Amino acid sequence: MDRLGLGLIGCGGIARSAHLPAMAQLADRVVLRATADVDASSAEAAAAPWGATPFTDYRAVLARPDIQAVVIATPEYLHAEQVEAAAAAGKHVLCEKPIAPSLAEADRMIAACRAAGVNLLIGHSRRFTRRYMEIKAALDRGDIGPVRLLRENERRSRAIPQVWWTPAHWTGNPQISGGAPMMNAIHETDLLRWFTGQEAAAVQAEINTTIEGNVGVIDFISLTVRFRDGAIGSAEVLNCAPPGYPAFHQLELYGTSGAIRARDHELTSLVRFGDSGADYPGHYDMLLHNLPAYARELAELVEAIRAGRPVHMPPTEARAALEIALAAVRSAHAGHEILLGDAA
Ligand SMILES: NC(=O)c1ccc[n+]([C@@H]2O[C@H](COP(=O)([O-])OP(=O)(O)OC[C@H]3O[C@@H](n4cnc5c(N)ncnc54)[C@H](O)[C@@H]3O)[C@@H](O)[C@H]2O)c1
Repeated sequence: MDRLGLGLIGCGGIARSAHLPAMAQLADRVVLRATADVDASSAEAAAAPWGATPFTDYRAVLARPDIQAVVIATPEYLHAEQVEAAAAAGKHVLCEKPIAPSLAEADRMIAACRAAGVNLLIGHSRRFTRRYMEIKAALDRGDIGPVRLLRENERRSRAIPQVWWTPAHWTGNPQISGGAPMMNAIHETDLLRWFTGQEAAAVQAEINTTIEGNVGVIDFISLTVRFRDGAIGSAEVLNCAPPGYPAFHQLELYGTSGAIRARDHELTSLVRFGDSGADYPGHYDMLLHNLPAYARELAELVEAIRAGRPVHMPPTEARAALEIALAAVRSAHAGHEILLGDAA
């Protein structure tokens, strides 16, 4: 069977660490034909191993007739414009999370892809991570009964020199960055919905700015969601742990007849953290670099296109995660709970 022609728009961190390796893993089914990045050297480096054509203007990728689908891995404030342009060009899309910074943009993207008859898969990569897939299957089997309480915590260390969350990187520009709620907590709001199988009734949150050099972008968030059936889901994202602090995710779910706990790793018993890093033996795998998840994610789009079916995770799911994350930020600013859905 012919391989699916792909384009890559945005050749930065996540493209290099996840999407390009995922494409290489699926080389029997896909071929990267063109790349685009405003930074020409990034586009060239991504294109080289495939003999693909690098561009600095993403519209040149969309103009190629030998490309059926594009992976969009640019900053969130560009997603709506680029997904709408891809739909207009008749390309299927795998676009990184968050779907967009606003619900109005998310609605436009979903409508544009629907009207063009192309698939839109938003990269909520954790749904393709083996451990979370197994947890979802266990919940669907009823292994722990209905979930009443769940909590997902995420920790990221700050870098030396610090670039992210400072004006040296787009994530640190309050004009274009939604900060931790959009970068990380959107994963959490998605997982809380997915695991409870419920819609959110209300959300309450606290936010902060903790990293030196940060000029007003949220880099810490703690949020609690009340679901329609009364389940409580909470999440805490902290992006300012000391250098070398193990990036990790910890998930706990308590049902009426059991509990499930998942951790990225077990901490060793004695760890010292300082500016020169962490003193502890061994190494850990970050969930972010769980490469099989990104290959499964891309394979889902490829198989959907081949079968002429919609992707199993519709973009309305990503919109629902965005709605909770945006309401969490509003709650933190307002100092009170924000009602969602019918209760709003
Ligand atoms: N699924 C995950 O777990 C995960 C992890 C990290 C990042 N992400 C998401 O991926 C997206 C990109 O994040 P990143 O960490 O790779 O950022 P990054 O800054 O490392 O890379 C973004 C790239 O986009 C390029 N770019 C900017 N404007 C462009 C334009 N107009 N046309 C083409 N290219 C352009 C930049 O030059 C840069 O190379 C964000 O939406 C982020 O939330 C997802």
